[in-house]
Amino acid sequence: MTIRPMRVEDVLAVHDLNVLTFEALDISMGVEPPPRPDPAVALPRYRNLATTDPDGAWVAEEDGEVVGVALALRREDVWGLSLLLVRPDRQSSGIGGALLARAHAYAEGARGRIIMASPDPRALRAYSRLGLDLHPYVAAVGTPKPAAPPAGVRVGDATDIPLTETVDRHVRGAARGQDIATLLEMRQTLLIVPERGYAVVNTDGAVRIVAALDDEAAADLLRAALARATGRVELETLTAKQQWAVAVALEAGLELRINSGGAMFTSGDVGTFTPYLPSGAFL
Ligand SMILES: CC(C)(COP(=O)(O)OP(=O)(O)OC[C@H]1O[C@@H](n2cnc3c(N)ncnc32)[C@H](O)[C@@H]1OP(=O)(O)O)[C@@H](O)C(=O)NCCC(=O)NCCS
Repeated sequence: MTIRPMRVEDVLAVHDLNVLTFEALDISMGVEPPPRPDPAVALPRYRNLATTDPDGAWVAEEDGEVVGVALALRREDVWGLSLLLVRPDRQSSGIGGALLARAHAYAEGARGRIIMASPDPRALRAYSRLGLDLHPYVAAVGTPKPAAPPAGVRVGDATDIPLTETVDRHVRGAARGQDIATLLEMRQTLLIVPERGYAVVNTDGAVRIVAALDDEAAADLLRAALARATGRVELETLTAKQQWAVAVALEAGLELRINSGGAMFTSGDVGTFTPYLPSGAFL
């Protein structure tokens, strides 16, 4: 097994490995895996991060095959772990730890660090031992009650990226306009409350990010996102800091679940971290 920098040619292998590994994790936990993402939508994430953050992008290779990957990003000196996984048949043999060490070396000297962890106990152990603080998640799941979208929310585009940068410096300590551009390339929709906040949602209404300067704007953005949902939604990463989101989820008729596992890990200067629902991929 060798660990080497990820190359742009690896993106399809990394995507396939991501789908396979998280399906296996879901099945091992008795959870039905989500529908497979369209590679055309998923690939810009891997391609862009391998290009913009080569010091954070590593793969483990065995017999010419990619068996593990770590992707980290660093924006305005805040570091985040976007992806860490090892092929199921090669897990628990030290590969994940070795990949994480490489990706985490890229955090050297960073002001802040962010990781959104899956419920895998190996991941929870490894991130805790890097010295980050653990904030467990609650999930809110269900089909939102039909509701009219709030009047103050409009659909945005790339010209709204400067607003996202102001908001992100507040809620997460660092702007990442290039990642918002990547999300638009991934056919996600930007929702805007002018001068106060933004959300990123998938075409089916799945919520990728909600970030705002105040709780009321964040609540309206989440209401707007839920009003667009075409079926069941899962807000999987509500920490104790996001009481505003719990209130909106309950108002929409979603059910709270405390047993789905996983945790947010933060360290150092990462802004207020509220009102904020981060993206697992872009933190
Ligand atoms: C999480 C994951 C990346 C870890 O990689 P790995 O190669 O399986 O793990 P490692 O063998 O490097 O072990 C990592 C740590 O977990 C411990 N560990 C290994 N197997 C374990 C097990 N079955 N139960 C609990 N801890 C275990 C190791 O001892 C190590 O801790 P240490 O460094 O303090 O000794 C990998 O298991 C995986 O892909 N899981 C599914 C996808 C996922 O959840 N990714 C994380 C997303 S945030």
